[in-house]
Amino acid sequence: MSQQKIYAALDIGSSAVKVLIGEVSNGQLHVIGDGYAQSSGVKKSAIVDIEATVQSIKRAVESAERMTNIKINDVILGIPANQIALQPAKGVVAVNSENKEITDEDLQRVMDSAQVMSIPPDRELVNLIPRQFIVDSLSEIQDPRGMMGVRLEVDATLITTSRTLGHNLMRCVERAGLNIREIVLQPLAGGQLALTDDELNQGTAYIDIGGGSTTVAFFENGILQQTAVIPVGGDHVTKDLSIILKTTTEAAEQIKYQYGHAYFEEASDTELFEVPVVGADSKDQYSQKYIAEIIGFRLAELFDMVLDELGRMGVQDLPGGIVLTGGMAKLEGIAQLARQVMQTRVRVYTPDYIGIRDPGYTTSVGLIHFMADQDAFFGEQAMTPIADPAEPYDGETWGQDPTDGEFDDDVDDKSNKKNKDVKSKVKSFFSKIFE
Ligand SMILES: Nc1ncnc2c1ncn2[C@@H]1O[C@H](COP(=O)(O)OP(=O)(O)OP(=O)(O)O)[C@@H](O)[C@H]1O
Ligand SMILES: [Mg+2]
Repeated sequence: MSQQKIYAALDIGSSAVKVLIGEVSNGQLHVIGDGYAQSSGVKKSAIVDIEATVQSIKRAVESAERMTNIKINDVILGIPANQIALQPAKGVVAVNSENKEITDEDLQRVMDSAQVMSIPPDRELVNLIPRQFIVDSLSEIQDPRGMMGVRLEVDATLITTSRTLGHNLMRCVERAGLNIREIVLQPLAGGQLALTDDELNQGTAYIDIGGGSTTVAFFENGILQQTAVIPVGGDHVTKDLSIILKTTTEAAEQIKYQYGHAYFEEASDTELFEVPVVGADSKDQYSQKYIAEIIGFRLAELFDMVLDELGRMGVQDLPGGIVLTGGMAKLEGIAQLARQVMQTRVRVYTPDYIGIRDPGYTTSVGLIHFMADQDAFFGEQAMTPIADPAEPYDGETWGQDPTDGEFDDDVDDKSNKKNKDVKSKVKSFFSKIFE
């Protein structure tokens, strides 16, 4: 049966807010349109100005709506990896039905039981990702429904973020008039899109170089193992250029786009261009090789920091190499420089869809893929997900630990409400199961 669904992804970055609208039909994504607005309220991936961010989101959404003539109500929201914690979680239940065949409901209960564990009050649940199901003693099961057993277990990864960061992000999206259909960790969505199955299994670093930050994510055995965020990105390169070339930020950004090169050895010394000097009527002339040295210096330092982060994660070896993406991955020579500094295989990932061939959109495309995969796995039938009203965020109860109510005075009321909210959060994630 052919199924078509329309999804909208929202990526709130330090450089830009991006909205991507895609239709998924028979497992294939077709990009319908996108919206883009400069981001002025986000620094190093964290929201520092709610009002400015709300305005940027509205502008990006409006431009996507104008382009596609589709009204966006619900979005899949990417959450940055700053202050993210990944921890293993385990759930165990007895299979309910008399004939001991595992049903949707058993799956729901085992996922529920995996998250009923202590999340500190300053943390919020983002995603609960099942790694494997175990039926009696049979492990490595991807989908236990329909199998027979007495005991159903799940090994999962619990992803949490800081309450403040999550709150600010959700507040902005709600104030822009949008419902949040699902929240997904950005490098989880991007990595699962950009990496091949072999890379996901073998031990591979996914590196997203954005404007204000660089995200490092390590995948192995098919799952996201660790993430880190380095507060350095393309904006630092632009700033270096503007200082050294004594020009404005706008001119430096323009030069980076037009003549930028990261690899000194391959940059041209005959390609010359003029740069307006701040506070003077004159222009100075430079070669691509000259700016490649400036750009390469900053990026080599960044790649050293990436290696340090991988070392801190305990990563000894990268059999799958490195996959680079993010807006800065468009820079010529960046893969060569990364190879030289990090001494391993490096490739650049660029999403390849009509209308979107841009590594700056890897996160957005990944968000749609992630959600479409979830819907396919759990069999959701709805045809118009982005038009569905979702439960609005009330600023208090997003994904809280049902057990943390015991420290409150009004335990009964609050913990009941929280319990329901955890359910509704998971419900949106595993939507079909809860119907
Ligand atoms: N063609 C290009 N050549 C060189 N640099 C580019 C090009 N296109 C975009 N960039 C740079 O990529 C960066 C923006 O990347 P991206 O859109 O991935 O960032 P973001 O997601 O908004 O930020 P972050 O992920 O840090 O929050 C900017 O520094 C921009 O100058
Ligand atoms: Mg980004």
